[in-house]
Amino acid sequence: MQISDNWPGYSLDLFTYPQHYYGDLEYVLIPHGIIVDRTERLAKDIMQDIGDNDIVVLCVLKGGYKFCADLVEHIKNLSRNSERFISMKVDFVRLKSYHNDQSMQDMQIMGGDDLSKLTGKNVLIVEDIVGTGRTMKVLLNNIEKYKPKMIKVASLLVKRTSRPDGYRPDYYGFEIPDLFVVGYALDYNEHFRDLNHICVINDHGKAKYRV
Ligand code: HPA
Ligand code: MG
Repeated sequence: MQISDNWPGYSLDLFTYPQHYYGDLEYVLIPHGIIVDRTERLAKDIMQDIGDNDIVVLCVLKGGYKFCADLVEHIKNLSRNSERFISMKVDFVRLKSYHNDQSMQDMQIMGGDDLSKLTGKNVLIVEDIVGTGRTMKVLLNNIEKYKPKMIKVASLLVKRTSRPDGYRPDYYGFEIPDLFVVGYALDYNEHFRDLNHICVINDHGKAKYRV
């Protein structure tokens, strides 16, 4: 699903959101309900492609936790209500590369289980957003070393950048303009993860939570 550069979004007055963020946001880019509905369709596409296989869902923390939880839930429901079934294990990995709204050069891979458990497995990496694609390339290089049988990537968002070598995930929910977004587990310096909708932060919000 494409969200065009001139999409004005929805007025914040049309929805509810936590009071502590009043004055910090510009507009709603994607309401929570649409995120959930789109995720259900991604779950169906994933089931169609890799159903009947055992998969390891590798959730990229922290930003991916909401999308991963909803995606896994939808896959489970679809699996229960169809002939196809899918057996899932969920694991976590943590990467960090953002300070304020700027991508940092060095990236750390932390936490999660031993990646050697992925050898011979069908791996579905679940990520919140693909921006420059650099993060995903580093992660993929790391995981490929352990020789999984298959690797697929599902990202809720893909940011439209001018880069021609931009990485494209196998599955994605929304292609969005090159904006800094928060909500639905996406953060700005650890804030806004508790916002349901995906929103664009305003200058006041950026200044308030700058580190
Ligand atoms: N918001 C939050 N985290 C991010 C973004 C964004 O727009 N892009 C890459 N990481
Ligand atoms: Mg992320």
